[in-house]
Amino acid sequence: MGNSQVNLRDQHAVVTGASRGVGAALAREFAAEGARVTLLARSQAAIDELAREIGGHAISADLAEPGELPATVKQIEHQGGPIDVLVNNAALGHVAEFINQSPESVTAHVHTNLLAPMQLCKVVLPGMLDRGHGSLVTISSLSSEISIRNMSSYVATKAGLTAFTLNLQRELRRAPIHTMLVVLGEVDTDMVAEGRNDPVLATIADRIGSMGSMTPEHVAHKVVIGYRSGRSTLVLPPTARPLFELRQLPNRIFDVVTRNIP
Ligand SMILES: NC(=O)c1ccc[n+]([C@@H]2O[C@H](COP(=O)([O-])OP(=O)(O)OC[C@H]3O[C@@H](n4cnc5c(N)ncnc54)[C@H](OP(=O)(O)O)[C@@H]3O)[C@@H](O)[C@H]2O)c1
Repeated sequence: MGNSQVNLRDQHAVVTGASRGVGAALAREFAAEGARVTLLARSQAAIDELAREIGGHAISADLAEPGELPATVKQIEHQGGPIDVLVNNAALGHVAEFINQSPESVTAHVHTNLLAPMQLCKVVLPGMLDRGHGSLVTISSLSSEISIRNMSSYVATKAGLTAFTLNLQRELRRAPIHTMLVVLGEVDTDMVAEGRNDPVLATIADRIGSMGSMTPEHVAHKVVIGYRSGRSTLVLPPTARPLFELRQLPNRIFDVVTRNIP
């Protein structure tokens, strides 16, 4: 499915972390493309309101409790039908020196940002394969390619998520499943606003400010354009693509070495 056009009309798309920020913008953009959207987040009121606005469904769930995910997916499919598109967008990004981060916060980052997306893929993939189609969209971060002080848990989980998605793409290369990795630079959302309270991150942000911050709406629009053209990787802003490609060099070499393995 690598380069084919991917149509969202009448597709059932689940967007995690859809109560605000990038996820809410993605949900609106997917709905504008004709998708039936299910919104997932913890903030019931926010997703209920957005579901009313776009004519979708809302399911309140805590992704930090991955044991609940099979039941949550069952509930989603009961309400909206089989899932055609899963957008793993939800994430937690608390800023603190690792030594000062509570063990509970570390666990919450790993569960929400890495384990939940992996488990959700695990739950929805068999049905997608049976039906002969499906899409998995992963929202990751450029921070997975660099080391940032005071963001150890976030960066580690995003690096894991990027690695997981790139591996899955290779395993599914002959399957009728479209996988898309979205690697984002700075987006103007609550996550970034909270991060700016940290002096180290505020200084970093001032120094790289010239790269610019994107709006969630711009990101969502570009994701849908990339999705419709069947892209497997999208790096935003495009000026960051060389950094990502540089980091992918060992993978590209390994792909050549391991080509033609059935
Ligand atoms: N903003 C950036 O600069 C930036 C840069 C690179 C990548 N990204 C990525 O873009 C994605 C969206 O981030 P954002 O900036 O839009 O963040 P945000 O404004 O903080 O929104 C995060 C979303 O995730 C949901 N969420 C968090 N914990 C959850 C949990 N335990 N269970 C269910 N939902 C949960 C939140 O909903 P509730 O609180 O209602 O549960 C919210 O809808 C993330 O994957 C992030 O890593 C963002």
